[in-house]
Amino acid sequence: MRVLSYMFRLMQWAVATYDTAFGYVSAHGAPLLDLLDPQPDERVIDLGCGTGVMTIEIAARGAEVLGLDGSLEMVNAARSEHPHLSFAVGDAHTFTTSERYDAVFSNSALHWMARDPSAVISRVHAALRPGGRFVAEMGGAGNCAELIAAVQTAWRVFGLPEPELPWYFPTPAEYATRLEEAGFVVRLMEYFDRPTRLADGPDGAADWVRLFAPELIAEVPPEIAGPLLDRVNELAAPALRRESGWMADYVRLRFAAVRKPGGDELVQPPAPHAPPTPNVPPAPHAPPPPHVPPAPHAPPPPHVPPAPHAPPPPHVPPAPDSPQVHHHAPHVPSDLQA
Ligand code: BEZ
Repeated sequence: MRVLSYMFRLMQWAVATYDTAFGYVSAHGAPLLDLLDPQPDERVIDLGCGTGVMTIEIAARGAEVLGLDGSLEMVNAARSEHPHLSFAVGDAHTFTTSERYDAVFSNSALHWMARDPSAVISRVHAALRPGGRFVAEMGGAGNCAELIAAVQTAWRVFGLPEPELPWYFPTPAEYATRLEEAGFVVRLMEYFDRPTRLADGPDGAADWVRLFAPELIAEVPPEIAGPLLDRVNELAAPALRRESGWMADYVRLRFAAVRKPGGDELVQPPAPHAPPTPNVPPAPHAPPPPHVPPAPHAPPPPHVPPAPHAPPPPHVPPAPDSPQVHHHAPHVPSDLQA
């Protein structure tokens, strides 16, 4: 109970802090947005949208955008910040859509979807129309190596078990292979260092752990959390603390991939035992279902028969508690938010 309430307070703090002291999540998103180059009338999913800082930027370029995030707290914050945009809570490993999108965008989020990265890619593939784009940036191999080494050493010094880190930082080759195996053509794959300024103040590394790894702290006895984080700071300082402030050793993977025509046969439906996708039905005033003929410039709806060599994907009816994400709902009904 104590741990739960601690986690809850940390989560509230994390939501409040995510785009203020640590506003670099959005501040560094501009080049990625340019790479996405969303067009008016395109339909885009912002996967792992957090508080919606990039969702609003995509919308500002005229695209219709749905922000999707696994955290109810983040989605609630996004909804109250941007009430005119659409947001839904959903697990990137299992989400399904009732129509196909022109692009899936993701900034600084895919490394959190660590349980099964190929499942995430497969869900993205299924959500895109043939030719649709998957444009994203995430932590790459070696990301935060100094920060992580400081955490691991501090845990060891305090006699704690090796912390289980919640992130996935792939090499470019590994992630490109996953993309290709899922039916994407990789058009761009960049891998670069991006030293990133942390919040002002002496507690840069400790605050980083509090914000980004609260589950690690929740597992340690509360009375040692403070000294443990002090030790993280001491250990990380020589590499990361400059006169001008703390710099995190971020390494980025930035890519653009295109869904090949066909390829539906490569898409793995979610495993039967996968956790349910949250219930996100269309709002009562949502537009008609996909059998209505699309506007001339609209991408083909999912029921258009595929090319002969590309059999349609196996229809996996959503479980009663795991229906599809629908894009046209401007607001997800409030009774689904809790
Ligand atoms: C990142 O954006 O690279 C990141 C942020 C928090 C934890 C781990 C990685």
